[in-house]
Amino acid sequence: MSYENLLVINQDGILWVTVNRPDKLNALNGGTLRELDDAIAAAAADGSVLAVVVTGAGEKAFVAGADIAELNRLGPVEAKEFSLRGQGIFDRIERLTKPVVAAVNGFALGGGCELAMACHIRIASSNAVFGQPEVKLGLIPGYAGTQRLPRLVGRGRALEILLSGRNVSAEEAERIGLANIVCEPAALKETVTTLLNGILANGPLAVGHCIEAVNHGLNMSFEDACRLEATLFGIGAASDQMREGTSAFLEKRKADFRS
Ligand code: COA
Repeated sequence: MSYENLLVINQDGILWVTVNRPDKLNALNGGTLRELDDAIAAAAADGSVLAVVVTGAGEKAFVAGADIAELNRLGPVEAKEFSLRGQGIFDRIERLTKPVVAAVNGFALGGGCELAMACHIRIASSNAVFGQPEVKLGLIPGYAGTQRLPRLVGRGRALEILLSGRNVSAEEAERIGLANIVCEPAALKETVTTLLNGILANGPLAVGHCIEAVNHGLNMSFEDACRLEATLFGIGAASDQMREGTSAFLEKRKADFRS
């Protein structure tokens, strides 16, 4: 499918999904969200896609939020639908069992910060700016920012960031666990690619099961989550990939999970 607001390129198994509205700082309008949902569904179904990177076009913004021009026109019923629709799309990103990295190349505000948080890992360029400034617009975050931010940085820090609506620099984001790695802007693509190539050398089933155990486990009791872990551990032991990984160790050679 061709997209109006996204650039989608598969580079050696890594699908680069670039939100492409640089004149609006890549703000997420309804059309862009629909395309993002489609691109993620296609990535899930396509065996040639091993991992996904979400980023923004241009040097200034990752995504500067939901499109405020669209927000301005919403009534209460539509606003709830708008929120549920976006939450659903971001959930589908989070639940992808292939690794998803946000390459945060500039402003990641509001829905942009929420999109980055829905990705499994966030790599930020040193000029990235995170934040949930919705309160400044008389709104609250609607794409699960009130839920994912405290899970990443803790309740006290999340509330301070949410209530103030202030900007969070890349350096602070790394310090508080909102960003995993910060690098120079020119090194962003290489940093993401190196990280992903390292992940993709590991057992694909095990990588997918880690994502599933963390995502689902965090919404369960500790006891139930540990049972889920044990079940996935058992399924892994039924796979050729587990046999290959453990045999490779014992035979002192590099594991080859993909041939
Ligand atoms: N929705 C719609 N349009 C947006 C947008 C958003 N979230 N963020 C930026 N834009 C548009 C601006 O309206 C402007 O469009 P125009 O040239 O047609 O007037 C263009 O993108 C450039 O933005 P501008 O504000 O001129 O850039 P800046 O460098 O002065 O400021 C920001 C950058 C990110 C600080 C500022 O754009 C901003 O505060 N954006 C909104 C952030 C926000 O509140 N996000 C949460 C939304 S829920």
